[in-house]
Amino acid sequence: ANPTLLILAGDGIGPEVMAEVKRIITWYGDKRDMPFDVTEDLVGGCAYDKHGTPLHDDTMAKAQEVDAVLLGAVGGPAYDDLDFSVKPERGLLRLRKEMDLFSNLRPAQCFDALADFSSLKREIVAGLDIMIVRELTSGVYFGEPRGIHTEGNERVGVNTQRYTESEIARVARSAFELARRRNNRVCSMEKANVMESGVLWRQVVTEVHAKDYADVELSHMYADNGAMQLVRNPKQFDVIVTDNLFGDLLSDAAAMLTGSLGMLPSASLGLPMANGRPKALYEPVHGSAPDITGQGKANPIACILSFAMALRYSFDAGSEADRLEAAVEKVLADGARTADLLGPEGGSPISTTQMGDAILAALDAS
Ligand code: NAI
Ligand code: MG
Repeated sequence: ANPTLLILAGDGIGPEVMAEVKRIITWYGDKRDMPFDVTEDLVGGCAYDKHGTPLHDDTMAKAQEVDAVLLGAVGGPAYDDLDFSVKPERGLLRLRKEMDLFSNLRPAQCFDALADFSSLKREIVAGLDIMIVRELTSGVYFGEPRGIHTEGNERVGVNTQRYTESEIARVARSAFELARRRNNRVCSMEKANVMESGVLWRQVVTEVHAKDYADVELSHMYADNGAMQLVRNPKQFDVIVTDNLFGDLLSDAAAMLTGSLGMLPSASLGLPMANGRPKALYEPVHGSAPDITGQGKANPIACILSFAMALRYSFDAGSEADRLEAAVEKVLADGARTADLLGPEGGSPISTTQMGDAILAALDAS
């Protein structure tokens, strides 16, 4: 049977960038003899409009069955005043939670043609290719107790940083597995100097490493130093594994080393299914970009690179992922630029569809 994909294009520019990914999926079926069975459904505001909920139970059930979910983006001004329980983001949160997607992969890769876009000097970022693995389903964003209460005559806000050893071990494993497919190096970041959860994090990562991954080079770093090192000399890293809160901050900082939001893909992985593939959801880092929706200005590359991650991590097609990434690199080197990729000196931008055309042409030539 063909591998299965569920496409949830979502709101705003989601459907615009996903249209280009769909053409690329078709290309792989036609030209590389890699046909996918694709189903499409609704998530976010468009699902709320139709069903009164940002993620229908039937859609949730489909997501659990397919080999991989590709998501565009959710949200927009039309939904800003909705009750929290039906906000578009809740559809995405439900997918992550019920699929138990604990390992969030955020690459920070700097294409040479865009190195001048970085917040840093070209020589610090050119050729950068690192991967941040962020724990996504536990930690301080979820720990109990939490809330705001009154003590004496003032209010107190409480969150709890809490990790079990199994939660740490499974994300550590996913980082070590990933490192074996890359350059065999992992740097684990926490604050074991001031946090109990950090002490346990370092212990468990060290134990998992000694037991099953001694071939991978492991180092540890305090997360605050990690933040400094990321902007001082990011190329010293390959895979970084860290908790939910630190991963949120470090991956956003690392993202800006590489330039535009329109370029950043992500993957969220869970435990292996019966067929051995991990539960998986692939999505661009950017949102629904209401300010440019419907204008043909959206950069489809983040969504396209998310599909490349799907090829690599769900479909064991690393060389096809390389092919797609090389096609993206080629069109950028040739000067293809959507509006978000034009520097202050300007130039003439191409449209979302024209960027898709250029990438398909580069694939044809590959
Ligand atoms: P955003 O990522 O949608 O946009 C931020 C800025 O980057 C905008 O100026 C936008 O035009 C630009 N941009 C984003 N993606 C682009 C692309 N592919 N090509 C060219 N330019 C691009 O973030 P913002 O404005 O904070 O949020 C807009 C909506 O998206 C909100 O409703 C928010 O809740 C939602 N959102 C959804 C996310 C998701 O679906 N995972 C993530 C972030 C925000
Ligand atoms: Mg963030």
